[in-house]
Amino acid sequence: MEAKTKPWLALSLFLLATNCMQQCVHGESQVPCMFVLGDSLSDNGNNNNLQTNASSNYRPYGIDYPTGPTGRFTNGKNIIDFISEYLGFTEPIPPNANTSGSDILKGANYASGAAGILFKSGKHLGDNIHLGEQIRNHRATITKIVRRLGGSGRAREYLKKCLYYVNIGSNDYINNYFLPQFYPTSRTYTLERYTDILIKQYSDDIKKLHRSGARKFAIVGLGLIGCTPNAISRRGTNGEVCVAELNNAAFLFSNKLKSQVDQFKNTFPDSKFSFVNSTAGALDESLGFTVANVPCCPTRPDGQCVENGTPCQNRNAHVFYDEYHVSSAACNFIAMGSVSQFQNLVES
Ligand SMILES: *[C@@H]1O[C@H](CO)[C@@H](O)[C@H](O)[C@H]1NC(C)=O
Ligand SMILES: *[C@@H]1O[C@H](CO)[C@@H](O)[C@H](O)[C@H]1NC(C)=O
Ligand SMILES: *[C@@H]1O[C@H](CO)[C@@H](O)[C@H](O)[C@H]1NC(C)=O
Repeated sequence: MEAKTKPWLALSLFLLATNCMQQCVHGESQVPCMFVLGDSLSDNGNNNNLQTNASSNYRPYGIDYPTGPTGRFTNGKNIIDFISEYLGFTEPIPPNANTSGSDILKGANYASGAAGILFKSGKHLGDNIHLGEQIRNHRATITKIVRRLGGSGRAREYLKKCLYYVNIGSNDYINNYFLPQFYPTSRTYTLERYTDILIKQYSDDIKKLHRSGARKFAIVGLGLIGCTPNAISRRGTNGEVCVAELNNAAFLFSNKLKSQVDQFKNTFPDSKFSFVNSTAGALDESLGFTVANVPCCPTRPDGQCVENGTPCQNRNAHVFYDEYHVSSAACNFIAMGSVSQFQNLVES
């Protein structure tokens, strides 16, 4: 989270302003529906009833969220909340675990804290819903949509318009490959080979989504997993600003993922794909962030907030809320940068 310039920020603010002038005044979102697949960066409650330590439905998570703790892994709205607002949605996209009372046609969020592309990733923390299972859960949603719209043809036409936001992969490194005490993968595979396995599985999963009717994909690269307070404090060697080994893994993954997304553009001319680079913008002092590598809440040994711990007062000045997850203020800027990178998906 270093770097200096952030040209996309000015650009994205401009795009958001113009788009909203055209659409938001009519109370219409830029896409009618949004489906979210991913991990704790996107989870908004799917882990609440799972047997896992990777849950966040307790204070001080949600301290700045209108309804308090919800299972979002930050103090207020998360990245998905801001993205959906910028796209003109008036209600948050509901967690798949609780779509009761929501309009399923508007979308669902399947993301699960600690989840990865691989089934096993993050499981030392307890249960989670990995990418393949999230896609299976989406099939159940499609069945409901078919029923609502009165036929699978109509459902297909509808799903074409929906945005599929997929942001996953960090846990396959930090909660798998780089945890040799729990997972054998780093003894079995080189980083290069492991990353190829992840990308292959990820691609197969994206193809499954395509077969089930998805046509608009925002596929997000990994952030700087070596620059989290957890990486720095628990893995960093003295003097290192970020843990290079972790960042290099993220770069490797993201570069391969971007190539795969470019390939998809050719393979599936009936679809639109955007690769979202989540390291493109800097969260620095010019945006009000003065604390980059210290969490805002007191943290447990596993890096999450201590239950009922008193968080910092200046939450908008902290990039990180706990040792892994960015503050809601940071989520807002990341969301802006993201939306500006997938404008091609939301224009009709
Ligand atoms: C499910 O969502 C509804 C509507 O948002 C909310 O009122 C209710 O408390 C939620 N239930 C659970 C178990 O989270
Ligand atoms: C969750 O954390 C507690 C306390 O650190 C530990 O005793 C427990 O085994 C953990 N549960 C799982 C499923 O990892
Ligand atoms: C993402 O953006 C950063 C900063 O501009 C750049 O160095 C990096 O190569 C980009 N990553 C990918 C996968 O395009």
